[in-house]
Amino acid sequence: MRSLELLAEVHRLLEPERYLEIGVRRGNSLALARGQAVGIDPRYSIEAELHCQVALFRTTSDDYFSQPDPLAPTGGRPFDLAFIDGLHLFEFVLRDLINAERFTSPRGVIILHDVMPRNVDEAARVKHTRMWTGDAYQIIAVLRTYRPDLAVVPIGTQPTGLLLLAGLDPSNTVLADRYDQIVSEFRATDPQPVPADLLDRFDAQPPAHVLGSGLWDVLRSAAESDGPAAIQEQVAARLAVELGPVYAR
Ligand SMILES: C[S@@+](CC[C@H](N)C(=O)[O-])C[C@H]1O[C@@H](n2cnc3c(N)ncnc32)[C@H](O)[C@@H]1O
Repeated sequence: MRSLELLAEVHRLLEPERYLEIGVRRGNSLALARGQAVGIDPRYSIEAELHCQVALFRTTSDDYFSQPDPLAPTGGRPFDLAFIDGLHLFEFVLRDLINAERFTSPRGVIILHDVMPRNVDEAARVKHTRMWTGDAYQIIAVLRTYRPDLAVVPIGTQPTGLLLLAGLDPSNTVLADRYDQIVSEFRATDPQPVPADLLDRFDAQPPAHVLGSGLWDVLRSAAESDGPAAIQEQVAARLAVELGPVYAR
């Protein structure tokens, strides 16, 4: 399954009222949104036919989230689904994730693009291949080390995989508090030390397992008043049985 097809299925299963997209380019992934959407990209040029009520911002994600009220376009309501597909350098992906989680509902999902390079060249920080994942892959190890409360689910879509995060906690500041430490620990020079298990996708869930899992029922049936801890507990109970080790415990 292609990454965009999986994202389309997630839109169908979750029916997000509010969607955040970092990295819009021509609007191919934004075209999947049906409700309200916020798109951020300093160089977007929309060619796709859009079907959502969209607010587009021609700026970097760092600048967007440094504004006083990043939720102004949604009237203060959090996102239900966020897709992170901006600059694929590890520290940018980390900041995008920190910012996206702050403004996404605990009942929501964050999906990151291009976390499974197919070879070391594709993962280089200095781009020299046509298809490029950069070192975004490092975010998987970071989350397994620093966020054992999150469900971290690598999905083996084509061509370069996705990472699904659920059990979000907008009030969790571990990644922001340890940002400098994490960057110095995980940012590596080229050639990138991509783990063999990741290149071979041993760790990746088949798309059909994730789409057919009970995760979507748990998230859809959670109440708006449910806090992160309650949702994390339900997500963990369901995924531990259905998908195996998606938690760092
Ligand atoms: C891979 S493309 C996005 C493709 C799009 N999501 C799709 O699937 O159709 C990456 C985009 O990230 C944008 N970008 C680069 N640096 C960025 C930044 N700092 N903040 C937000 N977007 C950025 C680029 O301009 C580019 O359009």
